[in-house]
Amino acid sequence: MGKLQVIDHPLIQHKLTIIRDKNTGTKYFREVVNEIARLLAYEVSREMPVEDVEIETPLVKSVQKQLAGKKVVIVPILRAGLGMVDGMLDLIPAAKVGHVGMYRDQETMEPVEYFVKLPSGLEERQMLVVDPMLATGGSAVAAIDALKKRGANNIKFVCLVAAPEGVKVLEEAHPDVDIYTAALDERLNEKGYILPGLGDAGDRLYGTM
Ligand code: PRP
Ligand code: URA
Repeated sequence: MGKLQVIDHPLIQHKLTIIRDKNTGTKYFREVVNEIARLLAYEVSREMPVEDVEIETPLVKSVQKQLAGKKVVIVPILRAGLGMVDGMLDLIPAAKVGHVGMYRDQETMEPVEYFVKLPSGLEERQMLVVDPMLATGGSAVAAIDALKKRGANNIKFVCLVAAPEGVKVLEEAHPDVDIYTAALDERLNEKGYILPGLGDAGDRLYGTM
């Protein structure tokens, strides 16, 4: 079973409170989403493998560590996932960025795939799927389905706010995927919104309320 990690560092809790506040405007919301994504990237990269490399310091030859292992691909689920990409790239600048477009049908709440563009050789890559919200889990499951269908086999899911319902659905559909979230909230409302949540992440990022 994939691990669920709630990254409730004090800085993250403080920043989450800012974006949960309905009085936070688009510009500040966008900035703080990226700041939280940067902090999450630090935690997500904690278990990246390292290897020995011989270098010379100004004084002696020395064996030190450098990152090894799979090349990283950050995959935002459009559109709100885009809001986390720059923050993640701040810490993992060499990562490639793939895109998966999903929206929730407002009537059925089912995810609809409308765009997929990914780098080649997914079998050899560490995929980080990013989306601020894990609500019913439908979008995350469908996005990860789309990646696995194209060969990805090493996937982590990174979000800001998760509902217990969505965590359960994602864990059941993709038990190999670790989930990193800044907060695990109480529940969904009857319209599939997370409570207390932060509202519609895409609308708040892009000012489309
Ligand atoms: C939001 C959010 C997730 C999805 C989560 O996107 O960014 O992708 O809902 O809900 P789920 O877990 O119930 O699938 P939305 O469909 O509103 O599209 P947007 O990013 O274009 O705003
Ligand atoms: N998508 C959002 O943007 N917010 C929610 O609360 C649920 C799904």
